[in-house]
Amino acid sequence: MPLPIAVSETAKSTLQNQVFEQIRLMIVKGQLKAGDPLPGTRELSMQMGISRNTALLAYERLISEGYIYTKPQVGTFVSEMLYEKVVSASANGDVETPAANGTVSDPPPPARSRQFLQTHSLRNPHTDRLTADFWIGRPDPASFPVKVWSRHIWRQLQRSHASLTEYNDPQGLEKLRVAISDHLGPARGIVVDADQIVIVSGCQDGFNLIARLLVETGTPLVIENPCYQGAAYVFESFGAVPHPVPVDECGLDVSQLPDVSRAVAYLTPSHQYPMGATLSLPRRLELLAWADTCDAYIVEDDYDSDFRFNGAPLTAVKGLDRSDRVIYTGTFSKCMGPGLRLGYVVLPKTLVEPARRLKALMNNGQSWLEQSVMADFMLDGGFRRHLRRMRRTYLARRDALLAALETNFGKCHVRGADAGMHLIWRIPPGFPEAEEIEKRALRDGVGVYAMSTGAARQFGSLEESRRYLVLGYAAMTPKQIDNGISRLAKTLSREPCRSAAAETGVQQRTSP
Ligand SMILES: Cc1ncc(COP(=O)(O)O)c(C=O)c1O
Repeated sequence: MPLPIAVSETAKSTLQNQVFEQIRLMIVKGQLKAGDPLPGTRELSMQMGISRNTALLAYERLISEGYIYTKPQVGTFVSEMLYEKVVSASANGDVETPAANGTVSDPPPPARSRQFLQTHSLRNPHTDRLTADFWIGRPDPASFPVKVWSRHIWRQLQRSHASLTEYNDPQGLEKLRVAISDHLGPARGIVVDADQIVIVSGCQDGFNLIARLLVETGTPLVIENPCYQGAAYVFESFGAVPHPVPVDECGLDVSQLPDVSRAVAYLTPSHQYPMGATLSLPRRLELLAWADTCDAYIVEDDYDSDFRFNGAPLTAVKGLDRSDRVIYTGTFSKCMGPGLRLGYVVLPKTLVEPARRLKALMNNGQSWLEQSVMADFMLDGGFRRHLRRMRRTYLARRDALLAALETNFGKCHVRGADAGMHLIWRIPPGFPEAEEIEKRALRDGVGVYAMSTGAARQFGSLEESRRYLVLGYAAMTPKQIDNGISRLAKTLSREPCRSAAAETGVQQRTSP
């Protein structure tokens, strides 16, 4: 007998999932009872207009989860025991019902899901098919110190492998915390005790820790506009209410800080994400004074401060903090690699013990091996040498990008090129808007990104998000950069936008 189910090509879920889910729900609801026969996969595929393979895969999953079973040469049937279990669950009202039209409704979103369901992974889904990819936040893969790293791993395993069979300090390995506090003094002007550091699995984990410590429904979230999406969504998911503050060439416009009390202020002072400004010293001091007045905590996300090309880095806001109001988040994602999932949070003294306990509650700390190897790499001077090398490499790549933009598009207007691993390029007049350029370039195998794709969040409609592209350059060689930008120029000149191509100043060039 045909099953009263239907699938839709346009649904969010795959066809296979839709078939699986609908049959599962019929069993759960008791519409299909223990021992009831199901149509064969051939019959089902014909009835529903799906491929036989789709039907087969859906049945395989139903079998592997125990909902149905097959009797060779006889057929497929609803399982016995499972039927008992699910019907009693259903009687208790624990299961959802199919929508009245026979299709399955989406499960209700979990509490607090609104924001974090909007965010997307920092892994670029297009990377594998692109020949030039200016995706943000990727360090150079060829520069990872593989040999030294392997040597440290091997040494650690030989000497201390017993740590793998133990729980370690949830706050993080002491030697890594010591190495970080030794680094932060000279590098960022932060004098801090190793006891005030908690090791986390990157800034993102740090934001979660901080949000769990400080945010409740209604907590004001003072945040740059535009800002880093990953942080905004975490704080909002805990109930924080955003108070966006505009950003200009000197960073957060502190004259527009709101008059709110007990706020959490999140910002990226070294290299504003995404616009790239460095918060000026007078503004840093004003921000701290504001936090004192409003009894606010400042979350300083210092994600890529290791790379500053013009002049010495400014002392971190945490380094100027006299009232212990700044929580500093650092990461090894940019200077080493995001695959390590290693970062740290420097906390005001009063928050250390709650954070330590919370870290134990969340996950009992980070992987021992990565922490131990990172500590050894820092303590024997390898990290300092690596940073020096990477600064030279990234400077050359930034220069290659600036040169390529100028060669292909004439005098260019960029922001954020003094530091970090990405810059913001203002799209010259006469070209389409950022999202359209992104689409066209991707079609031609080149990844350049509008801000929303490049992990930025804006509150309200900002001109920046339409007229700027985010270009990450650290993971590309100068030759790849040159090639990518000249291909972008070709893409854009092949389909000149509305206004005359001549206005754009695009110069034709053949790629090497
Ligand atoms: C501004 C900013 N903060 C934090 C992060 C996340 O870093 P992590 O890998 O340490 O979670 C990123 C990632 O690109 C970022 O751009």
